[in-house]
Amino acid sequence: MLSSPKQYHITTFGCQMNKADSERMAGILEDMGFQWSEDPNQADLILYNTCTIRDNAEQRVYSHLGKQARRKHEKPDLTLILAGCVAQQEGEALLRRVPELDLVMGPQHANRLQDLLEQVFSGNQVVATESVHILEDITQPRRDSSITAWVNVIYGCNERCTYCVVPNVRGVEQSRTPEAIRAEIEELGRQGFKEITLLGQNIDAYGRDLPGSTAEGRHQHTLTDLLHFVHDVPGIERIRFATSHPRYFTERLIRACAELPKVCEHFHIPFQSGDNEVLKAMSRGYTHEKYRRIIDLVRHYMPDASISADAIAGFPGETEEQFANTLKLMEDIEFDMVNTAAYSPRPGTPAALWENQLSEEVKSDRLQRLNHLVNLSAAERSQRYLGRTEEILVEAQNPKFPTQVMGRTRGNRLTFCAGDIHELQGKTIRVNITEARPFSLTGQIMVPLPCG
Ligand code: SAH
Ligand code: SF4
Ligand code: F3S
Repeated sequence: MLSSPKQYHITTFGCQMNKADSERMAGILEDMGFQWSEDPNQADLILYNTCTIRDNAEQRVYSHLGKQARRKHEKPDLTLILAGCVAQQEGEALLRRVPELDLVMGPQHANRLQDLLEQVFSGNQVVATESVHILEDITQPRRDSSITAWVNVIYGCNERCTYCVVPNVRGVEQSRTPEAIRAEIEELGRQGFKEITLLGQNIDAYGRDLPGSTAEGRHQHTLTDLLHFVHDVPGIERIRFATSHPRYFTERLIRACAELPKVCEHFHIPFQSGDNEVLKAMSRGYTHEKYRRIIDLVRHYMPDASISADAIAGFPGETEEQFANTLKLMEDIEFDMVNTAAYSPRPGTPAALWENQLSEEVKSDRLQRLNHLVNLSAAERSQRYLGRTEEILVEAQNPKFPTQVMGRTRGNRLTFCAGDIHELQGKTIRVNITEARPFSLTGQIMVPLPCG
């Protein structure tokens, strides 16, 4: 291995998939003998794992990258890597824009980092953006948490929402086998992890690319089957999954979530718009009525379930009236949390070419009104916790108040309470909720012992 350990730093932008990819790439680097450096300016290898979902996400990368590219002029042995979705989208063009780059690699190549770096260290500038079959990672990811872990179950996305770059940059759907997924979760259980989140851009599509389907045409490996298959893994106490697509969300899945005790009552189901015409222009494949029926069904089986979502303000051609339908849906459903964004035209997507784009003023005005409602509804939903006793899985110390620990309710609300992290980390405690803010809670420990 290396004589004096080289240092690496990874900066991650974007969604949970990117976070999971970064953890795996960090694992590979450590396996190769690199050591983590908190300060990017001390590092011998810098990796940016990038996001291109909106233009501002992409621009942030370029400002970071420019600085390290300049540092490379003083330190020529600095290795600069651009990974993730911007890398996939821009490919070779990035080398013209930032010739200091050593390696440009798309998300499908994350598990191949060692291979690619060996080519770099033998003097090549490497671009890896061709679509490949994603191999199982054989190294141990370096996970950010020791309590909760991401587990990829399906890569890519076969939908074609007209605003979205993800299918272009993440490729077609590739499900991991149930056996590989279970083996990873078993290892997590052995290492003391307590909570897992199964990940996919369209997690309901899980399994449809795997061989084997029934006489009725149903494939054998659905997300519901997978939840049953991994549910009894020893040590794991909580199971979550994201992101759900309303088009594929089934009653069978909802029933499984209600029946399986480890599956938390939290559902992230983006609606994007509350207007049927806008939904159609987005090619989302459902109506707001269908979306409402799903939420009704979830609440029928799990009355206290938390519902979160994503929404876009100012999609091309969206009228004030159509936008009002989004506000109406939000008022009716009362979400626990909604990630919002103003529509951003993305290269290579159909909607970016349409002539009916809205002005920045209209988009940002609608975004503000949307956010106002998000806050109101989150605050309202938080109130239901007041005075209740909630199960909190303690994850870490509160960075602002070290005498407090923090964790989440089963419904995914961040919760703080006084306690010693050394004693409580990884334990599930009962907390009486005494304060409720829109996106977090504070309470007191009821029984300082694990309750299940
Ligand atoms: N697979 C998930 C979402 C993936 S992208 C789904 O189907 O819902 C995460 C979120 O980014 C999307 O839900 C959407 O709200 C937002 N988003 C995607 N493309 C966007 C764009 N061009 N402009 C603004 N927001 C966008
Ligand atoms: Fe993008 Fe639609 Fe796929 Fe979600 S389902 S990742 S929004 S194309
Ligand atoms: Fe961004 Fe790529 Fe995720 S574009 S949102 S990091 S899939």
